Amino acid sequence: MSRTYKCAPLPFMGQKRYFLRDFAEVLERVEGQIDTVVDLFGGSGLLSHTAKRVLPGCRVIYNDFDHYDRRLAAVEDTNAILAAIKERLTGLEPNQRLTDWERADVLAIVNDAQNRLGWVDILTIGRSVLFSGKWVTSLDELRKHTMYNRVRPGAYECDGYLDGLEIVHMDYRELFERERGNSRALFVLDPPYLTTECGMYENYWKLTDYLSVLRLLRGTKYIYFTSDKSQIVELCQFMAEEYGEAAPMYGATVRMRTNTLNYQAKFNDMMITKL
Ligand SMILES: C[S@@+](CC[C@H](N)C(=O)[O-])C[C@H]1O[C@@H](n2cnc3c(N)ncnc32)[C@H](O)[C@@H]1O
Repeated sequence: MSRTYKCAPLPFMGQKRYFLRDFAEVLERVEGQIDTVVDLFGGSGLLSHTAKRVLPGCRVIYNDFDHYDRRLAAVEDTNAILAAIKERLTGLEPNQRLTDWERADVLAIVNDAQNRLGWVDILTIGRSVLFSGKWVTSLDELRKHTMYNRVRPGAYECDGYLDGLEIVHMDYRELFERERGNSRALFVLDPPYLTTECGMYENYWKLTDYLSVLRLLRGTKYIYFTSDKSQIVELCQFMAEEYGEAAPMYGATVRMRTNTLNYQAKFNDMMITKL
């Protein structure tokens, strides 16, 4: 099998790179007991990719709801656009702010490419000229921002990243319905966070959406990701105290990672497992 990626090959906010070791450990434990891994909220596909590397004999279904595959397929075009931008910014220090002229030229490069190709991976291009933490999903949005020279020295590379994966693009409920009859399936659930996703996907995930996801956990083997920002774990703890075994996540194992945003802000990412 080709190389193993430790992070998504193209920028993706909310990828589970810091949980890969824990995730792989859990998968190793269920080797032989499951035949399918269903990544219901695939995002960048990093968990699907890891699952296929750890359990090559398993069927791994990557639900690519955002069409990350389209970004991967366009990587050569993206590299060519970034090379043109890099050339235009020759002589600038890393992270240096672009002048109005430089900024206009960068936008012209992207605009020309978009006209020529019909579509460009604006998210990856944005990461190369925007301040860290800023994400854009359209050229019009990109036009509104101050720019900095943040183009990486090397090219993006994603060879073999999707090898062996079964790729689908559908609502998680539809995929769950399709696969729920398989008692040897392990479901991976990493729904959008209210906070990490904001900006990129907007805050469209509400409490009712989270509760609908919890409904899927009953009677299935699962690995569920969340954070204490969403307060879903508190809710489940309350339900476990009130309703015992009938509560979602009753008897599940929780692994935690602390993320420090700055000296004041911290939150815990959690991986909750029931096998
Ligand atoms: C936190 S991210 C998953 C990150 C992924 N585990 C990774 O490591 O890259 C949540 C993903 O769910 C997707 N999503 C949102 N609504 C969805 C739906 N109804 N069905 C399936 N996926 C959905 C979002 O677009 C986003 O890609």
